[in-house]
Amino acid sequence: MRIGVLTGGGDCPGLNAVIRAVFKTSFNNGWDVIGIEDGFEGLLDPTKSVFLSPEKIHGILPLGGTILGTSNMPDPFEQSLNDPTLRSSVEKPTNMLKNIQELGLNAVIAIGGDGTLTISQGLFQMGGPLIGIPKTIDNDIPGTDVTLGFRTAVETVTQALDRLHSTAESHHRIFVVEVMGRYGGWIALEAGMAGGADIILIPEIPFEMEKIQEKIQSQFEKGRKCCLIVVAEGSKPLGGGMSVLKKSESGYVLRLEGVGKKVGEEISRKTGKDVRVTVLGHLQRGGSPCSFDRILGTRFGTAAIELIKEGGFGKMVCLKTPHITSVPLQEAVKELKTVPPHGGLVNSAEALGISLGR
Ligand code: F6P
Repeated sequence: MRIGVLTGGGDCPGLNAVIRAVFKTSFNNGWDVIGIEDGFEGLLDPTKSVFLSPEKIHGILPLGGTILGTSNMPDPFEQSLNDPTLRSSVEKPTNMLKNIQELGLNAVIAIGGDGTLTISQGLFQMGGPLIGIPKTIDNDIPGTDVTLGFRTAVETVTQALDRLHSTAESHHRIFVVEVMGRYGGWIALEAGMAGGADIILIPEIPFEMEKIQEKIQSQFEKGRKCCLIVVAEGSKPLGGGMSVLKKSESGYVLRLEGVGKKVGEEISRKTGKDVRVTVLGHLQRGGSPCSFDRILGTRFGTAAIELIKEGGFGKMVCLKTPHITSVPLQEAVKELKTVPPHGGLVNSAEALGISLGR
């Protein structure tokens, strides 16, 4: 047997743990593993594949990023609808399938978020032997309790909030911290709660400036010396839109940024207080995976090999606590998993007195 493995979309901590587990489990079964470089782009270029070996994967468990490289490839099935230079909607996918055959791959394990998993599902429908593994710091893939990389990102943001808290307290300042998460508020909500935020704004709950102002006022009246506000990059005011920096180079996702600055300026104008804005940006994606993500990545990797043995193509491995199991890729890509605005996490935050700006 010969297995291909690739990492697609934005990187996250824990990818190397999966690659290592896929290699070690395959190796123990006497199978070969080929690493496809730079995500699905590597499947269009036969020079972008490399045989993995014990030497190549030695020492990668604690490393952030991905030793295989990655790329944000637009969905080739959809892209062809907008690009007349592409001959047919299946031109690129057909070439990918051809390369899978030429490389002699019996299975391809694609580790990715919604973009990568959508391409995997398309290739599977065309007969490709695809298996998916859900990763993204955004935690927005349905069908799994949690995605790989999310817990590390929450740790990173929580630590940043702890640091900002102390300087905010010393200077009696308001701090607005913008965090990633795209159209979901998972990072903002979980890290905000873990880091003792006073206000958390998420895309799922459009905010009202008056509510934010009220919370800040009551906070300072009670004698608190500072205020920590966590804003998810996809947050928007009630009746308004998201803050879009620009369309991404690849043209298939929006680049979100700027809502923190807008909220900070508005607060400063309305309260006259000293406000500072911090955008955590890609700090949230880098660095060594926490132990949870190392273990999750390892379990996902070994489970993917088991799935191949069962012939479970077209599926994505997932965590349904405490079990690692699988769901059809179809289920994982039909929509994004967002924070329920009246779910347990939000209720718990509000019960504590944290304002969600509503
Ligand atoms: O999907 C992961 C993510 O980090 C999002 O949270 C963020 O909006 C986006 O990727 C940033 O993408 P890029 O690295 O292309 O700027």
